[in-house]
Amino acid sequence: MEDGVNIARTASASPQDREQAQKNAALLVGAMEPLKSVPAPAAAFDQVANTEEATGIVRESARSGTRVGEIGGPETVFRQDVASPSATIMVTAQQVKEHPQVNVFIQQANDFLGVMGYTEHGLRHASLVGSIAHNILQRLNYSERDCEIAYIAGYLHDIGNVINRHWHAQNGALLAYSILSELAMQPEEVALIIGAIGNHDEGDGVPVSHISAALIIADKSDVHRSRVRSSDPLKWDIHDRVNWATTRSFVRVDDENKRINLEVQIETSIAHVMEYFEIFLSRMLVSRRAAQLLGCEYHLIINETQLMLVMSYEL
Ligand SMILES: [Fe+2]
Ligand SMILES: [Fe+2]
Repeated sequence: MEDGVNIARTASASPQDREQAQKNAALLVGAMEPLKSVPAPAAAFDQVANTEEATGIVRESARSGTRVGEIGGPETVFRQDVASPSATIMVTAQQVKEHPQVNVFIQQANDFLGVMGYTEHGLRHASLVGSIAHNILQRLNYSERDCEIAYIAGYLHDIGNVINRHWHAQNGALLAYSILSELAMQPEEVALIIGAIGNHDEGDGVPVSHISAALIIADKSDVHRSRVRSSDPLKWDIHDRVNWATTRSFVRVDDENKRINLEVQIETSIAHVMEYFEIFLSRMLVSRRAAQLLGCEYHLIINETQLMLVMSYEL
């Protein structure tokens, strides 16, 4: 904003003042040694701005981002808009879902993953992960805005699959950056969301914030029969079989005792509990780290049997 004001002052100076400014600028550019004799940049601008016309425009610019933009160009508009209270926009989850690219990209990504043989990653997964992430933070008494930010991160987290399965977390973060910036979301909130999305994959992701932690726990909990695309067992791989065997999956948050349980019901005639571990161990480990960040222990309970009890200080 300060730069914008300076630009406005310079642009509105009288011919005499501009000439003096040019002399000062020449001194600045040409000065190699006698720095003490060179006016400081701020002093040069103040000198240029010391006219009624300039002062008037500076006052105007302080009230209106548009007015500054007319004087200083697009960069000035951006800075002024960010600083202006009137530009503070609370982007809702509904607005994000209504962005023309969001559902199209998620659905297309899901189709691409289907071609590659992956389980469902479409709107069902997006909204479920968003809701679980929201609810985790809500149960832990985070603010309603934090919960909504977690929902948005959850809803968008797999959108990067529209580009490629590999690096889909990082690609998704960049897509989310573009979408949320278009909606003029506050940079601090954008940062939380793209950090969470970029770190959600267990391969290289690390829980880096409460939003990130909630997203990780929510995403890794979505193991369920409804994610399997084919009901023909001959077409199943181990992921399909374990998902098909899972008839119930529930994240229980106990704020009082600082526990987060993932409760899973598996039909062992379809998949053995060890198969669940075989493919989901890395997901459970990152979920444990995420729970730690939230100040909780993480417990995995399969068929009412607790299989993983991890104290919060073990990692
Ligand atoms: Fe993912
Ligand atoms: Fe996911």
